[in-house]
Amino acid sequence: MTFEAAQNPSRDPKSLYGGTGTRRVTVHDIAAAKRRGEKWPMLTAYDAMTASVFDEAGIPVMLVGDSMGNVHLGYETTVPVTLDEMTMLSAAVVRGTRRALVVGDLPFGSYQEGPVQALRSATRLVKDAGVGAVKLEGGERSLPQTELLVQAGIPVMSHLGLTPQSVNTLGYRVQGRGDEAAHRLLHDAKAAQAAGAFAVVLELVPAEVAAEVTRSLEIPTIGIGAGPDTDAQVLVYTDMVGLTGGKVPRFTKQYTNLRQTLGDAAKAFADEVVGGTFPQEEHTFH
Ligand code: KIV
Repeated sequence: MTFEAAQNPSRDPKSLYGGTGTRRVTVHDIAAAKRRGEKWPMLTAYDAMTASVFDEAGIPVMLVGDSMGNVHLGYETTVPVTLDEMTMLSAAVVRGTRRALVVGDLPFGSYQEGPVQALRSATRLVKDAGVGAVKLEGGERSLPQTELLVQAGIPVMSHLGLTPQSVNTLGYRVQGRGDEAAHRLLHDAKAAQAAGAFAVVLELVPAEVAAEVTRSLEIPTIGIGAGPDTDAQVLVYTDMVGLTGGKVPRFTKQYTNLRQTLGDAAKAFADEVVGGTFPQEEHTFH
């Protein structure tokens, strides 16, 4: 039983968050949560240790996002992330978790050529890293890829709205504003659902549009900068714990300040080394 479940014995034991289940979450559990009207959280993770902390906290779905490019690997955008990097870090997250459904992002250049390339890349993430699902950007434009992956037995999460792999054409701005753009977004979401996607990420879209998409779909929507009415919410974990340096987007919420905590700990260690007060007798072998 998770800590949260122990604190909330009245919650539905099947709940994705706070339930009593201990086996790995599947896409069927995600579908059931939508039918129950249950909201749920998703976080990104890029390493085994952090993933194990979130798993123990009861986070039911972990995304090994290509945001690893910006926040973990020191690239300026998600574009340079490779399938090798994604495979290695996804495998670490799978090893660090026992319950969460781990979703691996298909990096830029690993599926745009067509469905066969997408299947080859997704198969690598499933076989070599052990992920339970993959995510790819685009609605209509990625339909043949989604269809083939689903036919092959690989669950697909679709990503609409702001799609960071298209930063060079879209920039980082709110998508789906205005009737025509909102209509296109809804069309893309329905197309992804029809192609077999099990969930749709909506990034940086007006809350009203995200609410309309959420009402119109049988599969869950996962919002980031999409207002309160999506079925689930996702945050990049380094933003959520205050580790990301510089300016963070307005839609994220910082629940703690790990950057300050880590910096303070590093300075305290350095001061003690320089001052000769670390190590002490209890840290020393004779
Ligand atoms: O790469 C990522 O972390 C993502 C989330 C922001 C949804 O795509």
